[in-house]
Amino acid sequence: MYILGIESSCDETAASIVEDGRKIISNIVYSQVEEHGLYGGVVPEIASRRHIDAVSEVVQKCLDEAGMKARDLDGIACTFAPGLIGALLVGVNYAKGMAYAARKPLIPVHHLRGHIAALYLTHPELEPPFLCLVASGGHSHIVAVDNYTKFRVIGRTIDDAAGEAFDKVSRTLGLGYPGGPAIAKAARTGDPHRYNLPTPHTENIYDVSFSGLKTAVINIYHNDSQKGEETDIPGLAASFQEKIADILSENLVNAAVEFGYTKLSIAGGVSANTRLRELIDLKSKQRIKGYSFYAPLMPLCGDNGRMIASQGYFELLDGNTADMTLNGYANLDIDYR
Ligand code: KG4
Ligand code: ZN
Repeated sequence: MYILGIESSCDETAASIVEDGRKIISNIVYSQVEEHGLYGGVVPEIASRRHIDAVSEVVQKCLDEAGMKARDLDGIACTFAPGLIGALLVGVNYAKGMAYAARKPLIPVHHLRGHIAALYLTHPELEPPFLCLVASGGHSHIVAVDNYTKFRVIGRTIDDAAGEAFDKVSRTLGLGYPGGPAIAKAARTGDPHRYNLPTPHTENIYDVSFSGLKTAVINIYHNDSQKGEETDIPGLAASFQEKIADILSENLVNAAVEFGYTKLSIAGGVSANTRLRELIDLKSKQRIKGYSFYAPLMPLCGDNGRMIASQGYFELLDGNTADMTLNGYANLDIDYR
């Protein structure tokens, strides 16, 4: 089955056709990152307008690249939640119009389920159940993936998402947007033990909190500036990255041990972080016998249409289609029903 996936939840207008959830046929992305970079973060109003400008062309190019017409598709999937509402509605409405005109099933896809599906595109042999850390600009979840369409949240951030913390710290340190890759780059030449940063505590041990950590880093920088002293930026970036990677990896591996998972995975924009990958691998090796660890290919970590088309296939198999009343939602749990 050929599914077209349309992604427009944030600053990427993307479309892709994927066969049977695993094989990428075509893929087109129009990124707005540079424009938002001028403002140090995503400006929702600009994002919506750029999606409107780009969506028809992106979808048409995606069909052309595959040598297909809308009539050759078996379903049209779109990200319908969560995300920036104005941005989401562009993809949702485009998909609705296309599904109606071509008389194809309309398939709503939850963005975080899409991130997890990036793992199926990378690892053809991977099948649920497994445990996944989904960390993006808006979310940090530990999710039990029971099957392709059934999820249970074991832990989540109680304040900032991991990616959000990277972005805010990067902005303060003058390293630019998006913050994750900028911090990772600065950290390469820094000492990860240069600054002693706090480890936040949460009531549910699988929840995380990054707000205090983010504030601690920002305070170090501001205190230095007030005293006219220079901050060791690579050292601070490395210490911050190390702390976040340590917290996230610790949580994932602890949850895997407690709930008896040997298959661990990560997904979402933050899963591109190599130090995070290293630490999960290292801790799993030490504590989980016969473990396997799955991460998406680098280009599949961030937002893309391929992951939406892939998850769309599994949602369609499960009968999760929508009619023309489909709406977009800024917030929606991954285990919605
Ligand atoms: O999943 P994603 O592309 O978009 C959302 O759904 O939010 O995630 C974007 C987030 C941004 O906060 C970005 O700074 C972060 O992922 N990110 C990283 C890295 N690459 C992107 N964070 C840490 N290390 C990276 N290498
Ligand atoms: Zn995302």
